[in-house]
Amino acid sequence: MSNQQHKLATRLIHAGVEPDPLSGAIMTPIYQTSTYVQEAPGVHKGYEYARTQNPTRTALQNALASIENGKFGLSFGSGMAATDAVAKLLQPGDEVMVSNDLYGGTYRIFTKIFANYGIKFHFIGMQDAENIRQYVNEHTKMIWVETPTNPLLNIIDIEACGKIAKEKNLLLVVDNTFASPYLQNPLDWGADIVLHSATKYLGGHSDVVHGALIMNSAELEEKLRFIQNSCGAVPGPHDCWLVLRGIKTLHVRMQRHCENGEKIAHWLRNNPKVGKVLWCGFEDHPNHAIAAKQMRGFGGMISFTLKDDNLDAAMEVLKKTELFSLAESLGGVESLIGHPASMTHGSIPREERIANGLADSLIRLSVGIEDVDDLIADLDAAIG
Ligand SMILES: Cc1ncc(COP(=O)(O)O)c(C=O)c1O
Repeated sequence: MSNQQHKLATRLIHAGVEPDPLSGAIMTPIYQTSTYVQEAPGVHKGYEYARTQNPTRTALQNALASIENGKFGLSFGSGMAATDAVAKLLQPGDEVMVSNDLYGGTYRIFTKIFANYGIKFHFIGMQDAENIRQYVNEHTKMIWVETPTNPLLNIIDIEACGKIAKEKNLLLVVDNTFASPYLQNPLDWGADIVLHSATKYLGGHSDVVHGALIMNSAELEEKLRFIQNSCGAVPGPHDCWLVLRGIKTLHVRMQRHCENGEKIAHWLRNNPKVGKVLWCGFEDHPNHAIAAKQMRGFGGMISFTLKDDNLDAAMEVLKKTELFSLAESLGGVESLIGHPASMTHGSIPREERIANGLADSLIRLSVGIEDVDDLIADLDAAIG
């Protein structure tokens, strides 16, 4: 069994899991059951009904808490289900500060679902965290940060946001999907809740949709667990098992994602057909110093524009790659290529998208862990 004194690589493999008490199986069994037999009413082994608890889920939740340096973990049926649960902490009339460059589905749930329940969302630039202050009023309850952001790879200073949150008595939520716990642990910098689309790097193999929340406060955990049990956005045990298995290789995968990402970012920068390359590892990235402070590496997510900045030019590149598959999602072992304007961020109106720097030709890469020379050759053939 692992403890918090162990280094991350050890915790990724051992945290939360113990040999199965029945057989000694080293891998946590998939408890595919909907209910648990009780000896007498209320006399049971801690498990009553599988919406509320499941042993495979418990193992994963403990692992998630450990690798994010938190006390509690909660697993959800998807990243959006986790977002939904956090938003349900709010009441009509409450206001939330949200980073203005973020996953399109998060923008959609806030503007199309929760805005209808009287919650107000302010989408603001947070690259300078001090900008948040001018929007805070007596109704503000939460700061919602994604860093690095999707898809512009902006960096937001979690520590600075944490200070403002503490001072103003707000909850700070950080979506850590892009960095993964291998590169960044937001709770250490003052976040109250860390969110993951575990569909991405945690699962790591593009074979599961899953979400997670990690926190230190027992009060918050109780509220979120109550919301989850009441609303029912729970994951199946097989999906929990897949994420648990994915986590065991997170460090090895992320190391390679970072190495490949660095080489491809530099290669793109030297390509005359490429416009801007967005990658937080460049020393001239506007918030590189903050990335270097709060992250242990710069990851494999890269976005770039074409010199010929239009939709048709982007479509040509997207059609031509072979190893980079055209697909939504990210964080798997295989490389993916995407076009935010028409795919992940299609739900954001064009004027708003362009105003936020999300150009028509912007292409996003999720650099996988294949041989980097093959990946570069694939991009070379497509960009021409
Ligand atoms: C940064 C980020 N947060 C949240 C989500 C939503 O997660 P899911 O697709 O698992 O519901 C995504 C999905 O792409 C994402 O990229």
